[in-house]
Amino acid sequence: MTGVVLERLLAHRVLPVVVIRDLATALPLGQALERAGLPVAEVTFRTPAAADAIRILASETNLLVGAGTVIRPDQVDAAVEAGAQFVVTPGFSVSVVHRCAELEIPVIPGVATATEVIAALDHGLAVLKLFPAEAVGGIAMLKGLAGPFPDVQFVPTGGVTAANMATYLALPTVAAVGGSWMVAPELVAAGDFASIERVTTEALALAAEVTR
Ligand code: 3PG
Repeated sequence: MTGVVLERLLAHRVLPVVVIRDLATALPLGQALERAGLPVAEVTFRTPAAADAIRILASETNLLVGAGTVIRPDQVDAAVEAGAQFVVTPGFSVSVVHRCAELEIPVIPGVATATEVIAALDHGLAVLKLFPAEAVGGIAMLKGLAGPFPDVQFVPTGGVTAANMATYLALPTVAAVGGSWMVAPELVAAGDFASIERVTTEALALAAEVTR
């Protein structure tokens, strides 16, 4: 079950990181992603609207909806209760990972060092978010980690854009890239869902062109 969700999540190789401040933007944003052909959204637990946004997207769209920026186990419970189907964390938390295992919800924990990669492997997790990707070394960091960890699949996030996503996706250890560029908070705030759809469509086209 966990593997099937992860496969669906990574299939398009692009994971939009969504910040919902105004709950009314959740549905049109989700519909823009669906129109673009990207049926996935990571809704960050950074705003009070996060759980309700997950609830709306999970019940009113066909998106695979997950929770991001999960840093405490109680947020795992809130996310699952709202209908989230996966969890993403910015760093490696044993308590969050344990709670996800208890609730049988797939988790992609954040890592930024080899030590954290080993901690994740110790918990049976081998799909990891490199965060904040650009700040911790980006492509060079991933090439370095590929030496000792050739079987780990990374989802670099943090500073990934339309300009550098293809370089990341060309690496054999990169499963997908995450980021907010195609669902930029300014576009959401402006209600510019047409631009969100266009930028997302472009990102998917770029991802489809990359061979690794
Ligand atoms: C995240 O939580 O994954 C990041 O904030 C996304 O980073 P970005 O805004 O640089 O894409």
